[in-house]
Amino acid sequence: MADAPLIDWEALRAEAVRVMGCAYAPYSRFPVGVAGLVDDGRIVSGCNVENAAYGVTLCAECGMVSQLHASGGGRLVAVHCVGGDGAPLMPCGRCRQLLWENGGADCLIVTPEGTLTMADVLPQAFGAPDLDAHGR
Ligand code: THU
Repeated sequence: MADAPLIDWEALRAEAVRVMGCAYAPYSRFPVGVAGLVDDGRIVSGCNVENAAYGVTLCAECGMVSQLHASGGGRLVAVHCVGGDGAPLMPCGRCRQLLWENGGADCLIVTPEGTLTMADVLPQAFGAPDLDAHGR
């Protein structure tokens, strides 16, 4: 397996802020942008896309994970999510699960309390190994 790429945190933050500007959030007026570094050095990103049927809203992380797979797959090694003020924003619970699936316990995430791991922000996560451990 290739060495993990060096993490250009400023490039990640800049991409998260850029894509936040693409958000479609007419209902909440709460734009979100997220950027992730892939283990091959790519940067993928996404913004939230809302819907008049509110529950259909796509979080920014959904778009980023879609781009991850659409552009060749791989594993997320570092993620930076921002709100409309450009400050770090913690992904919602559902999106932490998305990040866990695609980056795992060691994926780094920028938080208001500094850079943490996914294991820190989603302790005792449910993941693929649980499917086999619990009766599949
Ligand atoms: N949102 C995200 O895009 N990601 C998150 O992790 C938290 C919430 C969006 C969904 C909705 O469009 C807006 O923020 C307000 O909840």
